[in-house]
This record gives sequence, structure tokens and C-alpha cells, in this order.
Amino acid sequence: MPTYALLIAPSANRVYADASVALLTSELAVFNHTILGGRLADIAERTIAGVRYVGFHADALSDEDIAALANLSALYVLFEVREDLLRPLEATGLDRFSSDLVSIPKYAGKTNEQFTKLLLNVTAVSTDVPAAFLTTRLRVLDPMCGRGTTLNQAMTYGFDATGVDIDGKDFDAYSAFIRTWLKTKRHKHTAEVVPLRRNRVRLGRRLDVTVAGTAQAYKAGDVQRISFLNADTLHSAEIFKPAAFDVVVTDLPYGVQHGSRQHTSLSRSPLKLLAEAVGRWARLVRPGGALGLSWNTFGGSRDQVAEILAGAGFEPLTDPCYAGFAHRVDQAITRDLMVARRS
Ligand SMILES: C[S@@+](CC[C@H](N)C(=O)[O-])C[C@H]1O[C@@H](n2cnc3c(N)ncnc32)[C@H](O)[C@@H]1O
Repeated sequence: MPTYALLIAPSANRVYADASVALLTSELAVFNHTILGGRLADIAERTIAGVRYVGFHADALSDEDIAALANLSALYVLFEVREDLLRPLEATGLDRFSSDLVSIPKYAGKTNEQFTKLLLNVTAVSTDVPAAFLTTRLRVLDPMCGRGTTLNQAMTYGFDATGVDIDGKDFDAYSAFIRTWLKTKRHKHTAEVVPLRRNRVRLGRRLDVTVAGTAQAYKAGDVQRISFLNADTLHSAEIFKPAAFDVVVTDLPYGVQHGSRQHTSLSRSPLKLLAEAVGRWARLVRPGGALGLSWNTFGGSRDQVAEILAGAGFEPLTDPCYAGFAHRVDQAITRDLMVARRS
């Protein structure tokens, strides 16, 4: 059986240090369990000429398999191993905009873009239709989106993306960034900010952007929709239609000061906020859609998070491949993630 080796992007090594191999191994295991239909075997770290890789065996990979692997968040190069030689395989991911869309914004409290991509990946391949990750304009919601790292990653994948955040400064920063970026890159687009009202009550503001990967697609009306709603996530069920999203991903507030940033919700425990909000989010996910959450394990255990999700109409995915993502962010934060399916 042919052998393959994934070289890890230098940026992933910088962000995660020693955890990068374990995270890529787990992400690959989730891809194998879902979109790759279990065709990979022996996924494990291996060292070649002193450099760490993630290796695996597979009967010849199809073009679709390689197209899926190309999106792994920490992938640098995919090699086929032939005796003691490495043959690079051309692997083109979904990305349709330049990578600075996700890398330019820098601010305290940002969920790093590599992890955001990982969380979106493992959630998007865990719906009841894993292949839709490569073929469909998925509808993604980040119900606590900060300054929009998820929105930008989903946008670069060609998906529709909607974010909600209670912090007006985050809304202003994202609106300013995305308008400037779209103008600078000369992408045809529309962008407008309007009041957000329900039943004549003002809930906040919303930014609506339309954009396309190419000028032709834009002209043909084949556009992606990116929206940011400056509102309390607890109002989500009033704002959106039921089953409006295929995928919900969010990085919960950490419950501690992250970087120099004091989060709005600091007074509330992140798991308490989750327990209040998750039932509202559940109504917004189509049956068979998936929820991916990351949180600081100092604020609650996997069992506690699983119990909260299960009580709200989500089925936490318990295959061992989902259990290998805990990693240290800093002294006060060890981050883990959980993926669940809407029943
Ligand atoms: C860990 S941060 C998310 C960071 C984001 N992923 C990014 O990269 O910018 C958590 C976010 O939850 C938001 N938040 C806290 N409570 C909220 C609520 N009740 N409604 C909406 N957003 C809330 C905070 O304002 C913060 O931006």
C-alpha cells in the first residue's frame, strides 16, 4: 500500500509548538472518519531525515481525496513516499481569496487563523453529507464571532458566512477591515450597514456584504453573502430563520483575560453562557448539520460540554478521532473542541 507524508506548515509549528503534530494527526483522523470514508491506515507521526511528518498508508488516493487533504489546516506539502524519496503531490485547496484575508487582522483575543480553520474543517466534514464540504456553498454561522476570523475563513472557502457578536468595537473593526480589504483587492462587492430590528425593537446593527471569487461570477449574480450582526447571541433565534445554517462554529469566551483584552462576558462563566445560548443555536441548524465548539477546559470538562449539547438537541460525536484536540494556548487557557450533530 502506498505511503504518504504530510509536512507541517512552519506557521503551525510556531502557533502550537509541540502540539502541531498531534493536532494535524487528529484533524487527519477526523477527515479519514468522515470525508475520506476510512481509506487511510496507520496515521501516525514519523520522522524523515530529522524532520517530523504525519504519515499514513492508503491505496492510491483519488483526486477528490487529495482535494480534501489539501485543506488540512496545518498542511504545507503532501508527499508520496517512494522508497527513500519524497514526491510532492499537487494539492489545491478550496481557498479562493488571498491568504491575507485571514492573516492581516491582528488583535488581542483573536482565535488564531490556523485553529479557526481546523475547527471549521472538522465541523464541516462532520455533517450528514461530508462531501458537501468540497461541493456546496455551505451556510456557516459563528454566533460569537469576535472580529470575524471564522467569517474570513469561510469566505475564502467560498461559503456563505454569518457572524454575531455583542461587542460594538468588534463590529466596527470587522466592517472597516472587510471594506478596506475588498477595495484594496479590487473585488467587486457590495457592503452596507443597516439597523437590525425585530418587531420594531432595535436589536443592534448588521453588516451585509456580497462578493464573488471572480468578476464573471459576480456579474452572473453567483455571489457569496457575508453578514455580521452586532447583537446578543441570545437573540439569535429571533434574528434568523429555523434551519438557516449547515454548520455552526464558535470559539467560546475563555472566561479569563485573553491577551490584553477584557471580554464583555467576563462576568459570566463561558459554560453558563453556552447553556443559555445553545438551545437557540440548535433551532438555526438544519437536521444533520454540525456544531463545532472550542472552549477553555479550565472553565469546564468535556463531559460537562457534552451534557449541555445533548440537552439542546445535539448529538456529541464520540468517535475517538474527535478526542485528540486539547492543547495548551497559554498559562490560563487549555483549549479543546467538540463536534456535535443536530439530531
Ligand atoms: C473567544 S472570542 C471569539 C474570537 C473570534 N473567534 C475572533 O477570532 O475574533 C469570544 C467572543 O464572544 C463574544 N460574546 C460574549 N458574549 C456574547 C453574547 N452574549 N453575544 C454575542 N457575543 C458574545 C465576545 O464579545 C467575544 O468576541
